Amino acid sequence: MATIREKQGAAHTRIMGVGGYAPSRVITNEEVCTWIDSSDEWIRTRSGIESRRWATDEETVLEMSVQAAGKALAAAGVSGDQLGAVIIATVSHMHQTPALACLVADRLGTNGAAFDISAGCAGFCYGVAQASDMVKAGSAEYVLVVGVERLSDLTDIHDRGTAFIFGDGAGAVVIGPSDTPGIGPVVWGSEGDKYDTITQTFPWNEPPTADEADTGEDGELRGPFLQMAGQAVFRWASYQMAEVSHKALAEAGITAHDLDAFIPHQANMRITDRLVKVLDLPEHVPVARTIAEFGNNSAATIPLAMERMLQDGSAPHGGLALLIGFGAGLVYAAQVVTLP
Ligand code: COA
Repeated sequence: MATIREKQGAAHTRIMGVGGYAPSRVITNEEVCTWIDSSDEWIRTRSGIESRRWATDEETVLEMSVQAAGKALAAAGVSGDQLGAVIIATVSHMHQTPALACLVADRLGTNGAAFDISAGCAGFCYGVAQASDMVKAGSAEYVLVVGVERLSDLTDIHDRGTAFIFGDGAGAVVIGPSDTPGIGPVVWGSEGDKYDTITQTFPWNEPPTADEADTGEDGELRGPFLQMAGQAVFRWASYQMAEVSHKALAEAGITAHDLDAFIPHQANMRITDRLVKVLDLPEHVPVARTIAEFGNNSAATIPLAMERMLQDGSAPHGGLALLIGFGAGLVYAAQVVTLP
C-alpha cells in the first residue's frame, strides 16, 4: 500500500513584522459619562481607561485589517502574494459566514488559506500559535495574523458595566521561518463552565420577543450587545492568568528576569498591575499600558501595544516579550516571543 508523503516546514518561527491601526475618533470619559451615571475619576481608578478609540463608518473591520496588515507586511519585507494563509481573530465581523479573512486576503493579493477564529480577547495569541505551527508543519511559509474589533457595534452605551471599557482597532503580524527560536510554546486552554461570564445579550437567531425586547426611542430592537459579569472575570483574570503566565515562561525555558517586555491583553489596568505583582516582574521590564489611551479593543490590544512599544522605544527590537490574551469563552493563550 502506498504511504502518504508528509511535509516538513521550518525548524523555527518568528514574528517578522507588526502593524497597528487605531481609529481616528477619540471618545473621552466625559463623553461616556453623558451616557451612563459615572465619572472620569471612577473610570480611571477602576479601569485605568482615560479614553478609547471608536471607528467611524468608513473604518470597517475590513479597512482597519487591511491598514494594519499593510504595515506589518512592509515591516516584515513580505508581499501580500507571498502569504500562504490569513488568520483573522475577531468577534465583530457581523457575518457568521463567509470569513472576513477571505476579503482581507483578496485585498492583499493572495489566494492563500483564509479563515477567522472566534477566541475573544485571546484571539490574537491563538492566531500566533496556529500560524507558528503552520509554518513549522510546512502548510504555509508566511502567515498573516490580524486581531481586529469594532466593539462599539456591540456596546450598549447605557450599560454601566461595559460602556466605558470597549474600543475599536486592529493589529497585525507576519509570521514566517526563522534560523533561531522566535515563538515559544503556547500555553492555552478554555474554561467553558464560565461561558456565561462574557456573552451576547441574545443570540443572532433568537431575538427577544416583543414583550422582552429592549427598544430604543425609535422602537427599534437594540442589540445584541456584549454583557459581562465584571467581578467574576476580574477575579479569574487576576489569579488564573498569573499562573498561565508563569507556565508560558517555564515552557519557554526563561524567567521573568529574562524578559524585555510584558504585553498582556488590555482588559483593565488593575488586572495588569496584579499580573505584574504576582509575576514579580523586575522593574526594568516595560509593561504595555495602552488601555489608558485605546480602551479594551479585544483581539487588537496585544499587537497594537507591541507596535506602540517598539515605536516609542520602550521595548527593544529583538527582545523577549511575554504575551497573554484572555477573554470570552472563557479562553486564554500565552507565549514568549522575540519582538520583530
Ligand atoms: N461608574 C460608576 N460607578 C459604577 C460603575 C460605573 N460605570 N459601574 C459600577 N459602579 C459602582 C457599582 O454600582 C458599585 O457601587 P456600590 O459599591 O455602591 O454598590 C461599585 O461601583 C462597584 O461595582 P463593581 O461592579 O463591583 O465594580 P468593579 O470594581 O468590579 O469594576 C469593572 C467594574 C467592570 C471595571 C471590573 O469588574 C472589571 O474590569 N472586570 C473585568 C473586565 C474585563 O476584563 N473585561 C474584559 C475581559 S477580556
